[in-house]
Amino acid sequence: MKLFDVYPINDITITRAKGTRVWDNEETEYMDLYGGHAVISIGHTHPHWVKRIEEQLEKIAFYSNSIKIPLQEELATKLGEVSGKKDFELFLCNSGAEANENALKLASFHTNRKKIVAFEKAFHGRTSLAVAATDNPSIVAPVNETTNIVFLPFNDNEALAGYFNTNGHEIAAVIIEGIQGVGGINVAEDAFLCTIRRLCDDYGAVYIADSVQCGYGRSGQFFSHDHAGVEADIYSMAKGMGNGFPIGGIIISPKFKAKHSMLGTTFGGNHLACAAALAVLEVIEKESLMENAEKVGNFLQEELKSIPELSGVRGRGLMIGFDVPASHKNLKKDLLFKYKIFTGEAKPNVIRLLPSLALTMDDAAAFINSLKIAIAQYQPS
Ligand SMILES: Cc1ncc(COP(=O)(O)O)c(C=O)c1O
Repeated sequence: MKLFDVYPINDITITRAKGTRVWDNEETEYMDLYGGHAVISIGHTHPHWVKRIEEQLEKIAFYSNSIKIPLQEELATKLGEVSGKKDFELFLCNSGAEANENALKLASFHTNRKKIVAFEKAFHGRTSLAVAATDNPSIVAPVNETTNIVFLPFNDNEALAGYFNTNGHEIAAVIIEGIQGVGGINVAEDAFLCTIRRLCDDYGAVYIADSVQCGYGRSGQFFSHDHAGVEADIYSMAKGMGNGFPIGGIIISPKFKAKHSMLGTTFGGNHLACAAALAVLEVIEKESLMENAEKVGNFLQEELKSIPELSGVRGRGLMIGFDVPASHKNLKKDLLFKYKIFTGEAKPNVIRLLPSLALTMDDAAAFINSLKIAIAQYQPS
């Protein structure tokens, strides 16, 4: 049997990893500033994470949600402490799309309404409703098409207020990434998030903060929405949550009332996933990784801004994007194959940095050095 060929892949086979380094099957070392798409939060194969998973594996890996799983309560308590959202409640699932799917569904149950406001360039996942709320028609199958979703311009207070003015009482939810990831690292302005909060309050709609990529400390705050000083009603999470162990979840404001069977999953919240997620939070706290993300991220942004060939340096913490000129369109490939550095990309010509939150200042400086050398290759001699 062959694999269903849906991924454009690089011809590299990674066989081991440690911290912000990965090695291929020929023992070539790479610096990882991509983290497998913002997934590696505390560093590859962190010893505390490995130990907690191994110890859990010896006891029990999985049982369904038909029994008590105290690790889920432990995770909810820890998540409340580290995120500062102690009065929220946790529902666990397996991926980012599933988290958003549940968030949107819950908003619809809660309001008994159908309309969802999403934004241009948004990416919320590939399941039915999440993909319908994703601004990319090429990944929306005919069966996913719905008139219940409207896309408005990002960071446009007037357009949002205008839409609420005429349709406000039909809107179940507004869903927004605090920093658009797949869309090219576009930061939601604080004032825009405040407008969303106010309009949702005025019209009884639910504010969903898609924090799948920008959450879990990546922006320097636990949720990037925290920078705006407003609180969403539901936060969806996944990527950094398990440091590579598949787990997702939503945290839900106390204004929602749970009802048996309204949400559910077979695998979500299993023992092994909870152990991995607890290890991540313990390391984020113990190693002050949010503070590190802010410090190293600020350094990277300043350095990137000083490179004349680059423009539009943006982001927060260790979620950074910049534009490269069309003449440098192979820069990302060169960084990977010549300089052995993984970065991410977004079209057209955007490079994204999504490293582990434990990236050191030395590694950040080494990256800037390699980037300058790589860019210099394009200069006329
Ligand atoms: C903001 C955002 N939401 C949702 C998702 C979907 O997550 P998953 O691929 O785990 O389903 C992604 C994935 O890139 C994302 O970036």
